[in-house]
Amino acid sequence: MDRIRIQGGRPLEGTIRIGGAKNAALPLMAAGLLTDERLTLTNVPALADIATMAALLRTLGVAVDPVGNDGRVLAIGGAITSSEAPYDIVRKMRASVLVLGPLVARTGEARVSLPGGCAIGTRPIDLHLKALEELGAEITLEAGYVTATARKGLRGANVIFPFVSVGATENLLMAATLAEGTTVIANAAREPEIGDLAACLTAMGARIEGVGTDRLTVHGVTSLHAATHPIIPDRIETGTYACAAAITGGSVLLEGAKLEHLGAVMRTLREAGVEVAEAAGGLSVKRLNGLHGADAMTEPYPGFPTDMQAQFMSLMSVAEGASMVTETIFENRFMHVPELSRMGANIVVHGASAIVRGVPALSGAPVMATDLRASVSLVLAGLAAKGETIVNRVYHLDRGYERVEEKLAACGAAIERIPG
Ligand code: EPZ
Repeated sequence: MDRIRIQGGRPLEGTIRIGGAKNAALPLMAAGLLTDERLTLTNVPALADIATMAALLRTLGVAVDPVGNDGRVLAIGGAITSSEAPYDIVRKMRASVLVLGPLVARTGEARVSLPGGCAIGTRPIDLHLKALEELGAEITLEAGYVTATARKGLRGANVIFPFVSVGATENLLMAATLAEGTTVIANAAREPEIGDLAACLTAMGARIEGVGTDRLTVHGVTSLHAATHPIIPDRIETGTYACAAAITGGSVLLEGAKLEHLGAVMRTLREAGVEVAEAAGGLSVKRLNGLHGADAMTEPYPGFPTDMQAQFMSLMSVAEGASMVTETIFENRFMHVPELSRMGANIVVHGASAIVRGVPALSGAPVMATDLRASVSLVLAGLAAKGETIVNRVYHLDRGYERVEEKLAACGAAIERIPG
């Protein structure tokens, strides 16, 4: 298994190109199931999770072909020949469950392995299933699989989510585009990735109102058609490299990044003493003076994203003063805390909150993490720490960060991948 070796203490200086958003790309690929015609996605990031979703779509019979040589354009299309998302793929990536809505809407049947728990929490899919049931799908659970059937097609309905779920909103939105009649989704997630999905579905012929709000209205159509859609820049990759610049006392241009999707993160970084400004071609981030403690509480968009919580905690671990970081989305997303503590951070967890008391410096250590964002938070800590840090289980990073070591090394970090 590959590892990453970092010699800490060098300020990042330079330009980092931000890729397309992983969490937008995954549902967009699933949306390719809604038509036989070709859906062309551009600005696709080169990530392990994208390869996994491509493998899943191919298992369903659909072609996923790169267009051109740089791997950034994918054409998805063709007839669906199987309605089953097998355990072997779903266990690798929970987002596989996003094929459920499109499959049942298109073919009248979907059989998807239940994803089970994961490193950051139990993560059930009950909201996805209830929402599809309200559209008339019959749901059965057997042998670790969920089967959704709607032989006569789905029918529009009023669905009120009891709490906000990104994935359930996406599954329902996709399914509703082909349902008969009108579907209203109340308490819908408002993440920018949902806006991107809605934009792509609209380009494919779907009729959606209320995009960007928590109430989506979808007027079903009988079929969708070919479209080309550019994927939005990855706001979490952007926030992560902003924290990297800040934790090393550096200055970087995040090329292609958009400020509009990063409100809460950038407000919190500014409060901590980081300079963030729109610049030609992206965002400039620098930290010239000291960092101060700032609080963050994760919330659905437009709140502070749970996917930035671990990285922000690394940053706060070297800020002057104390900060409180509260996680409200997932019940087990502090797996990075013991590893950061091994690097000298002073963090105490009380239930869903962590009190971080900044220390003057972290010290390098061998570390590992069990999920993507926790792993990258350890890379950030390693960039700022004195001495050598080895981050194990790099495959987590490869799921969501494209060439992380190359991007950081190009800005002067002493970081390399050790193949193993
Ligand atoms: C998406 O996961 C993202 N994944 C996650 O990204 C992100 O952390 C999360 O949204 C929150 O922003 C993708 O977009 C592929 P949810 P999702 O449904 O859709 C509970 C990353 O690092 N819930 O909004 O699975 C759930 O357990 C990651 O890139 C139910 O109880 O998240 C959680 O506590 C990991 N029942 C909360 O809701 C359900 O049926 C929000 O989860 C569905 C969710």
